[in-house]
Amino acid sequence: MKMMNNYIQLVNEKLDEYLQAEKPESLFKSMKYTVTLPGKRLRPVLCLETCRLFGGEIEDAIPTACAIEMLHAQTLIHDDLPCMDNDDFRRGKPSNHKVFGEAIAVLSGDALLTYAPEVIVKYSNNLPASTLIRVLNEYFKYAGARGVIAGQVVDIESEQSADVKNKEKTLEYLHIHKTSDLFKLSMRTGAIIADASDENLALITDFAEKFGLAFQICDDILDEISTFEEMGKTIGKDKQEGKLTYVSLYGLEKAKCKLVCLLDDCCAIMNRHNLKSDMINDIIMQIRKRAGI
Ligand code: IPE
Ligand code: IPE
Ligand code: MG
Ligand code: MG
Ligand code: MG
Repeated sequence: MKMMNNYIQLVNEKLDEYLQAEKPESLFKSMKYTVTLPGKRLRPVLCLETCRLFGGEIEDAIPTACAIEMLHAQTLIHDDLPCMDNDDFRRGKPSNHKVFGEAIAVLSGDALLTYAPEVIVKYSNNLPASTLIRVLNEYFKYAGARGVIAGQVVDIESEQSADVKNKEKTLEYLHIHKTSDLFKLSMRTGAIIADASDENLALITDFAEKFGLAFQICDDILDEISTFEEMGKTIGKDKQEGKLTYVSLYGLEKAKCKLVCLLDDCCAIMNRHNLKSDMINDIIMQIRKRAGI
């Protein structure tokens, strides 16, 4: 846990450094507001830890780790808008659009989406050009129309989903894209920066897909059983909006079983390849604890 807190502190310091106030004031304030609210910082932590696991220098991965947290904040700002999930709270505070208005929230999300890869280019001085291009390619792939945005579109289109065909497949697709894709981005870029082999890249991608699915199933479960104090966001919204989730499709108990299986699979992947990370084990244990499994 101590090492994880070190990573989080490092990421927080660098996020602050990379997001200095500029003009237009309202735009930069709005960008910084959601990015610097206290999130769990799981994606940057997993990027740094994967880099370390494969023998890289975590310093080399810090700009990328921070950029991914900025991208994550972008997805949260847009996810909370009235035209999306219509959530008034995020990370225990009023959502971005509640503070800055919808127009600025849309624009600061847009701004973060392009600011983040600029941060990678500007601060990754230690990376060879070929590695930098690979990292940027990963960013564009998972942040864009074939990545998280695709997942968010299908999530929205599946609301009140009486006429959605093949709900099981649709649900898996939307979870993989809206959530696993940012975990894939985090872990793959960490591995690429460490110059991991293709085999290691493939296994970490498999891990991240399953971990992301598990993480989203846990989020869906907690939307039913947790509290505002614990989550920092309004509870019960998925049901209210008629979201297609593991809980709505299979019920709470089966969703928990699915979560257990996925987390066991994640541990098996790590063990099979002799990858040892107390931090990743702790993260998985925290998820089990929060979901009560
Ligand atoms: C929220 O992610 C969005 C989902 C994929 C469920 P996190 O639960 O990681 O949010 P923060 O970063 O801790 O606020
Ligand atoms: C979040 O899914 C996925 C993204 C923001 C990309 P949710 O809509 O379930 O996340 P929360 O519950 O609002 O954090
Ligand atoms: Mg959503
Ligand atoms: Mg939401
Ligand atoms: Mg949710």
